[in-house]
Amino acid sequence: MRTRNPTVPFYESFLKPILFSLDPELVHEVAIATLARLSRIPWLLDVLSRSGDNRFNREVFGLRFPNPLGLAAGFDKNGMALPAWEALGFGFVEIGTITAQGQVGNPRPRVFRIKEMEALINRLGFNNEGAEKIAVRLGQLRGRPQWPKIPVGVNIGKSKVVPLEEAASDYLRSFQRLEGIGDYFVLNVSSPNTPGLRKLQEGAAIRELFAAIQQQNQGKPLLVKIAPDLVSGQLDHILALADEFRLAGVVATNTTVNQEVIPQDKRRPGGLSGEPLRTLSLGILHHIKKHSSLPVISVGGIMNADDAKQRFDAGAELVQIYTGFVFRGPRLVWEITESLRKKGE
Ligand SMILES: Cc1cc2nc3c(=O)[nH]c(=O)nc-3n(C[C@H](O)[C@H](O)[C@H](O)COP(=O)(O)O)c2cc1C
Repeated sequence: MRTRNPTVPFYESFLKPILFSLDPELVHEVAIATLARLSRIPWLLDVLSRSGDNRFNREVFGLRFPNPLGLAAGFDKNGMALPAWEALGFGFVEIGTITAQGQVGNPRPRVFRIKEMEALINRLGFNNEGAEKIAVRLGQLRGRPQWPKIPVGVNIGKSKVVPLEEAASDYLRSFQRLEGIGDYFVLNVSSPNTPGLRKLQEGAAIRELFAAIQQQNQGKPLLVKIAPDLVSGQLDHILALADEFRLAGVVATNTTVNQEVIPQDKRRPGGLSGEPLRTLSLGILHHIKKHSSLPVISVGGIMNADDAKQRFDAGAELVQIYTGFVFRGPRLVWEITESLRKKGE
């Protein structure tokens, strides 16, 4: 059993002060490029890796997860560093959001740190290479030894140029192109950064979307990713439809557009994540678990091992991190998985 964690003191005491003095998106790009390069060096992955311990294997929606902590969507949008996520100790990774048409996203700057609150605001707008290009690249990797043994989720969204009324067929294009790549799929209808996208969570639109994908789905677990800003009526509507169309679960939640909890001078257009999202995300988890039996991937404001434990105590099957990983680095992965192992989760 390997449990070494060489990156623990290094990130927070040395790397983070340097990284946090630079532009957040630039740091992100350098991180992805570095991890992508590392992903092609097996011996280095092995040095980093501590994935030999599988004592807390977990089965959720028919997939085996070596541990229940995942990297949330948006970090590795194009699936550039899959082996690295496994080596860092994640139990699964969700790539994307991927859209049918490649797109550059919104003008920069579009990612902002709020250091004192351990929060981020982003308005990236689904910058990604597009389903076709990603499917070709990952398709070549999929059968090879470098492909990670952890489940890979694929999060899909609407191309910006496609009108909302044609959203279902646009999602379907991505789904069909990527069906052979992902172990599970997530319909992202909750990003605040594609105009009108969140409207897909309402009324007939969500029914049309679920129907379009499930009619073509040959058996891949399909989940829906929701916003933390839904009122209970909207949430119940989605849960009922998720049941009706036999979705495998819910990813709760995306970023919030409610920025009242942060000081006025820090507010910006975009979605807020990290510590200020914790209570909202937990509240949504409680609501889902009270009103539905669907499995939940809980995400939003998980900044330490206690936060993760709280989500499992509230009934989450799996959890994901994004902003916590930015602020705490690989240490957080180690901290959460170690504490789960000790508690025998
Ligand atoms: C910079 C950034 C980019 C994101 N991009 C995506 C995305 O493309 N698709 C998606 O479903 N969620 C995206 N998210 C949302 C995260 O996956 C997650 O749901 C949210 O940040 C809450 O988790 P956290 O508080 O741990 O960050 C993004 C978040 C951030 C901070």
